[in-house]
Amino acid sequence: MASSVSRRVLTGITTTGTPHLGNYVGSIRAAVRASREPGVQSFYFLADYHALIKCDEPARIQRSTLEIAASWLAAGLDPEQVTFYRQSDIPEIPELTWLLTCVTGKGLLNRAHAYKAMLDKNAATGADPDSDVTAGLFMYPVLMAADILMFKAHQVPVGRDQIQHIEMARDIAASFNHLYGELLTLPEALIDDNVALLPGLDGRKMSKSYDNTIALFGPREQLRRQIMSIVTDSRAPGEPKDTEGSALYQIYRAFADDAEAAQFARAFADGIAWGEAKQRLFERIDAEIGPMRERYQHLMSHPAEVEALLRRGADKARALATPLMRELRQAVGLRALDTQVAAPRGRDSARPGLPSFKQYREQDGRFYFKLTGAGGQVLLQSRGFESPREAGQAVKRLQSEGEHALGALAEWLEPVADALAPTLTEALQSLQTAQQS
Ligand code: TRP
Repeated sequence: MASSVSRRVLTGITTTGTPHLGNYVGSIRAAVRASREPGVQSFYFLADYHALIKCDEPARIQRSTLEIAASWLAAGLDPEQVTFYRQSDIPEIPELTWLLTCVTGKGLLNRAHAYKAMLDKNAATGADPDSDVTAGLFMYPVLMAADILMFKAHQVPVGRDQIQHIEMARDIAASFNHLYGELLTLPEALIDDNVALLPGLDGRKMSKSYDNTIALFGPREQLRRQIMSIVTDSRAPGEPKDTEGSALYQIYRAFADDAEAAQFARAFADGIAWGEAKQRLFERIDAEIGPMRERYQHLMSHPAEVEALLRRGADKARALATPLMRELRQAVGLRALDTQVAAPRGRDSARPGLPSFKQYREQDGRFYFKLTGAGGQVLLQSRGFESPREAGQAVKRLQSEGEHALGALAEWLEPVADALAPTLTEALQSLQTAQQS
């Protein structure tokens, strides 16, 4: 668990659509609430670079960016309290993307669900395997890792479909840290199982792809019209109605408190007419959304205000991104030629004349280390670890416990030739002494 002093929570919203009621109930509302909790530092951003992967209509990208920004602001996101910015305003993000690209195995990206789904689809239709696969789609997880790692986020609230991306961001960060020192924070996904999945007009999950959505901030009359078109059964007024399986009831439930919901359920049992139930649902939603809609409409007709807020958000974000990027450039060796840089914390930290551990990754994707004596001969060779962290822990143990750790780690080590054993013992002792001094 991340430190409770200041938990950094970050999430991105791809700017391709117009927010609907399902987005509000499923993410916007909870995120705005969470951003007000004390002890949390929140980052929300418009993932417009990601949008380019899915959408090649410039006007739609721009429109959606404005609509999503205005929706979040209207729903109560306070840009003074959180960092709210647009991905493409942060040039450090593509810069970090490249550094991460260079430590990301192609094999890792081959396993990404979205990419694999495209391959499967092409296989099914007999098309070329890479048909319609851009390098952008393939690189999607690396760009997303840069978004997250740039701000050292501890937690990333996402839907279940995004968990793999967060795990990849962790893997990528671990590879980077393994090579260059502990510079990046490993994030974890934050999944909220309590948020209701909102049904759409036809009772299936509300989703753009089913064309069954209710616009979040459409005109009031449109909201009424859309609610009136929610599919119900054919029970007549006066006949008792089931709340179970009723989209109407479930949508009401997502807006009501327990008492209101119980009252609505009673009205169902008492045979409320569908038209009347829909009218009540409309009024309940409009009570919550109405005041926000006014703010939304104001922002939509004053895009310069939104632009200014995002610019300020970008300044805040870059105040963090710029120094980290400077540090990362140093770490990987993109340095001014006339600066002398202290030995990094990572792999080259051995002092001359001492035996040293080297950690590395092999072609098999596993993580290894070896101990080299002062004279350059290999004294100890590990087997492959699943993660750089495990390899690092074994090294740490050998450094602090010396030869006493050899027994416990036996299964992770290649056997040591008898002739080398005394030199190994001596090397481990000298490392232990060096560490204590
Ligand atoms: N891929 C995310 C989605 O489609 C959007 C996104 C981009 C994101 N970068 C991110 C989410 C970083 C969380 C963190 O929902």
